[in-house]
Amino acid sequence: MFKIISPATSANLAPGFDSFGICFNIANEILAEEFQDAIIVNNHGDTLRNKENLIVKSFFYGCETLGYKPKGLKLNVRSSIPVARGLGSSASCINAGVTAAYLISGNKVNKSEIFEISTLIEGHPDNIAPNIFGGASISYRNGKEFKAAKFNIADKFSFITIIPEYRLSTSKARSVLPETYSREDCVYNISHASILTLALISGNESLLRDALHDKLHQPYRSVLIENYEKIIKICMEHGALGCYLSGAGPTMVAISTDTKTVGKLRKAFSDERIQVNVFVNKINRKGLEYFAL
Ligand code: HSE
Repeated sequence: MFKIISPATSANLAPGFDSFGICFNIANEILAEEFQDAIIVNNHGDTLRNKENLIVKSFFYGCETLGYKPKGLKLNVRSSIPVARGLGSSASCINAGVTAAYLISGNKVNKSEIFEISTLIEGHPDNIAPNIFGGASISYRNGKEFKAAKFNIADKFSFITIIPEYRLSTSKARSVLPETYSREDCVYNISHASILTLALISGNESLLRDALHDKLHQPYRSVLIENYEKIIKICMEHGALGCYLSGAGPTMVAISTDTKTVGKLRKAFSDERIQVNVFVNKINRKGLEYFAL
C-alpha cells in the first residue's frame, strides 16, 4: 500500500494566467493499493460511480501510459482541499492518481513525467506544476512539450486565502473569457507577470503592489465572484499588498507581510457579513510526497 500526500495550490497570481502557481501546506491524503477486480473508494464498491472519480480516472490513464494493466484499485481518500474553490483540488487528484500508477506498477516515480501526463489530463499546467514540484513555478510550453521552472518566494510574504461557501467550476470560469485580446492587454500582462517574478523572489513590496493586476481573466471573471470589488477593497484597507483571484476562483488570496492582516480581515468580513473562511497558508516547498507503507 502507498500513501500519497497531494497539496493544494493557487494559480495565476493575477497576471500569470495559466502559467504561475504556488503550493500550499494543506493537502489531500490518499492511500492506494492494487485490488482484485474491483474499484473501491472509501470502502464504497460502486464501480460505475468510482470510475468517474478523478483520482481513479487519472490512475488508469497513468497505467495505460506506462503499459501496465492493473487488476483493480482500492483508495482511501482524506480530503482537506475544498472542491471547486480555485485551490487546485483537481490537480491534486490528477497528480495523486498518476503517481499511484507509477507506484503500483513498480515504475520509479519520475515527477517530470508525471507533470507531463497530468497536464494532458488537466489541459493546463499551472496547478499541476506547483502540486508536484512544490514552491512556486512558472509553467510554459516549448513546442508541444510543457515545462515548469521553479523559484523560491521571499519568506516575508504570507498568502491569506479568502474562501467562500459556494463553488465555481473551472469550465464555467473559462467560458466567460474572450478568444482574443488586444496587443495593449497582452503587453500589460507580460510586463506585470515579469515584475511579479522579480517582486516575489526579491521581496520588493512596492513592486509586488504594482504587479498584482491583470487584464486577461480577472476583469471577465469578476462578475462570477460575489463581493469581488468589496473583498479587494477590504484587503487593501487592512494591510494587503494586493489581492488576486486564486486559479479560476471563487477563492481570493491576499498577500501581506503584516501578521496582523489575517485577524483584521476576519473581523472586517464578519462586520460586512461576507461569509468566507480566512486563513494563512505557508508555502510548501516539497510538493507531492509519497511513501510505501
Ligand atoms: N489557470 C487556470 C484558470 C486555473 O484560470 O482557468 C484553473 O484550473
